[in-house]
Amino acid sequence: MRRLMTPMLQLPVVDTRARPLRDLRISVTDRCNFRCTYCMPREAFGPDHAFLPRAEILTFEEITRLTSAFVANGVTKVRLTGGEPLVRRDLDRLVGMLAALPGIADLTLTTNASLLTDARAAALAAAGLHRVTVSLDALDDATFLRMNDAGVPVQRVLDGIAAAEAAGLGPVKVNAVIRRGVNEHAIVDLAGHFRGSGTSVRFIEYMDVGHSNGWRLDEVVPAAEVVAAIHARWPLEPIDPAYRGEVARRYRYTDGAGEVGVIASVTQPFCGDCTRMRLSADGRCFTCLFATEGHDLRAVVRGGATDEELRDAIASVWRRREDRYSELRSDATVDLPKVEMSYIGG
Ligand code: GTP
Ligand code: 5AD
Ligand code: SF4
Ligand code: SF4
Repeated sequence: MRRLMTPMLQLPVVDTRARPLRDLRISVTDRCNFRCTYCMPREAFGPDHAFLPRAEILTFEEITRLTSAFVANGVTKVRLTGGEPLVRRDLDRLVGMLAALPGIADLTLTTNASLLTDARAAALAAAGLHRVTVSLDALDDATFLRMNDAGVPVQRVLDGIAAAEAAGLGPVKVNAVIRRGVNEHAIVDLAGHFRGSGTSVRFIEYMDVGHSNGWRLDEVVPAAEVVAAIHARWPLEPIDPAYRGEVARRYRYTDGAGEVGVIASVTQPFCGDCTRMRLSADGRCFTCLFATEGHDLRAVVRGGATDEELRDAIASVWRRREDRYSELRSDATVDLPKVEMSYIGG
């Protein structure tokens, strides 16, 4: 009997709310050299914390195979995250493998930049990384040291940003999480420092990811307040989104000194356009940052699945997707058994 050939290309897969799968965020490790109080507080991530054992972590070959299956389902944007992705050895080798896959229009990395030396930045750029996003929550050491709780001064991060720019990994974006009573003063400091530099700062509302950070709603500084604080100093006007589903709302300085962004996932959720899948370092995929359960793709890869079986496994997870956590956020959802940000990637 003649068997029908399965076509290699299929229509983009959409979820139950008609959202296509476009972005893949890959956590390459659950470890980090920082202990940011809002992400990996020392009380919860101390010396006894059980990080993933090596055998459970996907190899670069496995990540590349999975990414290729995600691309077959419509992914065009890939971001490497952690934990801190640069604590994983030879990351540039993985970047090279991913850069060789056809179909990825944007290949980026989110990092705290403390390990981003000139040599490392150059190696990543040579391997095919397009750009980086750097987390930096304050410009004064007193606040930054308190927040990263790892003794890393601001200058190390600024040096990392400079290394990225010099290697051609710009324009760098800076992410700052603002927490009421901790670093509100950093809003104007960071905006002022990066104005006119070509680096855009995005201010992120503190989110209730995971459980270990003891999140409280009154610690969230609403994005509208961030915009108002900057606007009072240097007038701003809104910019149209660069693409559908852009996470940051952007504003430009009316004097032409560049732009800033706000990521208002608490006060103005953007689930309606969310096209993101997340892959943990141990190969589970999560359809939402606030998911309580992942789907074990490592078992599928290590079980000897063909490329098509892998592609179909991903498509079937995405087709069933209903998530819109930030739109539903309530006292009840805040208490769900969510996974930690350092495990799932930012
Ligand atoms: P570019 O603008 O292309 O650089 O990417 P991006 O806007 O996705 O930026 P980035 O990956 O740096 O995300 C910034 C931060 O926004 C993340 O670290 C999260 O804190 C938050 N964020 C990103 N995606 C989501 C999401 O799907 N849901 C929620 N609630 N927050 C998100
Ligand atoms: N709320 C908002 N942003 C967070 N990040 C980590 N934890 C949180 C949280 N609870 C940010 C980091 C980094 C990105 C990966 O996510 O600062 O910029
Ligand atoms: Fe590490 Fe980033 Fe989490 Fe800070 S926010 S602990 S740098 S993963
Ligand atoms: Fe996407 Fe979930 Fe974030 Fe909503 S809460 S934008 S569905 S990751």
